[in-house]
Amino acid sequence: MKKLIAGNWKMNGSRAANEALLTALAAGLPGEPACEVALCVPAPYLAQVHALLASHPSLSGIALGGQDVSAHAPGAFTGETSAAMLKDCGCQFAIVGHSERRQHHGETDALVADKAKAALAAGMTPIVCVGETLAERQAGRTAEVVKRQLAAVIHANGHCISEIVVAYEPVWAIGTGQTASPEEAQTVHALLRAQLKAATARSDSVRIVYGGSMNAANAAALLAQPDIDGGLIGGASLKAADFVKIIALAPV
Ligand code: PGA
Repeated sequence: MKKLIAGNWKMNGSRAANEALLTALAAGLPGEPACEVALCVPAPYLAQVHALLASHPSLSGIALGGQDVSAHAPGAFTGETSAAMLKDCGCQFAIVGHSERRQHHGETDALVADKAKAALAAGMTPIVCVGETLAERQAGRTAEVVKRQLAAVIHANGHCISEIVVAYEPVWAIGTGQTASPEEAQTVHALLRAQLKAATARSDSVRIVYGGSMNAANAAALLAQPDIDGGLIGGASLKAADFVKIIALAPV
């Protein structure tokens, strides 16, 4: 199973900045990376980034992803982006249930599960984010929280569950510079793997990636853990040199 290194640009970028970042990535990437690479970009820039990826030979293997997806079929949902639209714009991935959406947009486990379902139905791979807050970790509730979040997605998606990517993103590590240690992350990844094993015979082919201040300095140790199958990278994905280094550190 190839590792997946996915950049999450969050609400950052401009046409000029995106072009500069991709030009720098193209120059930095030596050739076909050993891992799979994706960029999850703001919706208004999907078309631009899709075109830029296609125009640089060294970027043409990079997949495109959305950062959120509507759970609804097309219709009267002002401001939302349907799974079919993301797919139509060339997306192979869609992040669902990022903690920033759970926190600032009130997304529930049930809604996140429906979003994963919508992405799968459109032929995309949902990157399902789970993770505990600092208070939950300190209260010893990490396992309970991440298992509850993943259980909702397993329940709603049945036999399709082997088609998802799970991202373990401890909320206290996101954008804080404070990373889970490789051992802390591995412990949670192993829990999630066991939960997937109970749900599907194909659990070994489900990638469980880590997110939360992953950078060029800590990526190698995290990616060396047996159940860490890649990374979902925020801040460091906006710096071409760092993102290129992380890609180079991801073993097959
Ligand atoms: P970070 O973000 O790498 O900036 O911590 C990760 C994420 O939120 O996906």
